[in-house]
Amino acid sequence: MRTTKVTDGIYRLSANVHDILFEGFWPIPNGVSLNSYVVKGEKCAIIDGVCDWDGVPETLFAQLDEMQVKLEDIDYVIINHMEPDHSGWLDAFRKLRGEFTVYCSERAKPLLEAFYGIVDNVHTVKSGDTLDLGDGRVLAFEDIPNVHWPETMATYDTKSKTLFPCDAFGSFGAVSDDAPYDDTLQEEHIEFFEREMERYYANIVSAFSAPTQKAIEKVDALDVRIIAPGHGIVWRRDPQRVVRDYKRLTSYAKGPAKPEVTVVWGSMYGMTEQAVRPLVDAIEAEGVPTHVHRVPETGLSFVLESALQCSGIVLGMPTYEYKMFPPMAAALDEIGKKKIQNRVCLRFGSYGWSGGAQKELDEINERLKMNWKFIEPVEFHGRPRENDIETLKERGRELARAVKEWSLGARPAK
Ligand code: FEO
Repeated sequence: MRTTKVTDGIYRLSANVHDILFEGFWPIPNGVSLNSYVVKGEKCAIIDGVCDWDGVPETLFAQLDEMQVKLEDIDYVIINHMEPDHSGWLDAFRKLRGEFTVYCSERAKPLLEAFYGIVDNVHTVKSGDTLDLGDGRVLAFEDIPNVHWPETMATYDTKSKTLFPCDAFGSFGAVSDDAPYDDTLQEEHIEFFEREMERYYANIVSAFSAPTQKAIEKVDALDVRIIAPGHGIVWRRDPQRVVRDYKRLTSYAKGPAKPEVTVVWGSMYGMTEQAVRPLVDAIEAEGVPTHVHRVPETGLSFVLESALQCSGIVLGMPTYEYKMFPPMAAALDEIGKKKIQNRVCLRFGSYGWSGGAQKELDEINERLKMNWKFIEPVEFHGRPRENDIETLKERGRELARAVKEWSLGARPAK
């Protein structure tokens, strides 16, 4: 990786990570970047860092070398967010640098001690506090709790109007050395990162959509010319584009989202499966696009992304030991934990000796305050008969109409 200049006195250092599961369980087939920024006044600060996986801190140090910044030249380490994908490098930094001065939020302080045993030279800051780097460069701090952990803050360079929001406005996707900026990328590549942003948001940020909306309100109050996040590309030409993207995604969590339907289905012996295609065709015949995912074959990460973006959800599964098909229950539980709320939902599926899926579905919906509205379910004993398929198609059309209505703002009656 190479160091690149964001603007006068600000440099982007970055490491791309592949072949891992992000947070230990989210697949990143297109990798992810971990971004760090060096900000120079008369004093020098580094904002955010990288993880401690093999070779990653060394990648960061090599970029400091490249820009002829010695580790001892770094006066301040600013920690916007303590999750180890940004703070893991601190152990390696301390071994090379010795003592150093940290600026972080009050809530980050105990995590610094718990994760890395760092207790000395830790200055805590809160919204409105500043750090003067000299040469007219003043950094201002703003708490943005729960974007994505409670201790998160954003740093704003008042000189260049650059915002460093860490996870907020981030995305998955490895970033090319040659074009880490929206003004150095072709439109198709910017759109690639916007797609990667959608799954990143659904997996990492969605559970915190309400605090993210509050953080965006704070951003709206600032004169922001550049947005330099902890993951993904830097937005220099049109920072409002990523703000709009994030506003859209935060609004999807509570709904309505797009007038589309996510169909999640699972089948043990093919009986529930027989009903999937007729149902999908009936929904699409109403002009409502569908996104079909079989579980457990499709990973949760992708199901979440789809569910976040659709106002309607179909759950198709057999009853399993008096309950929901377990991969479906796991998916639904996670969708609820990500606070994907206020969906219109249709359930269908096969049962053998007993039903019981609805009871568990109701329990999850209630426990996680999902507030989903259900179309009358369609259950069939064993294989679906012709009349079952016809009923299901009618319910699919009903779902499609409700989704269109909800997406235009009129919530359907329960
Ligand atoms: Fe990229 Fe919440 O860390």
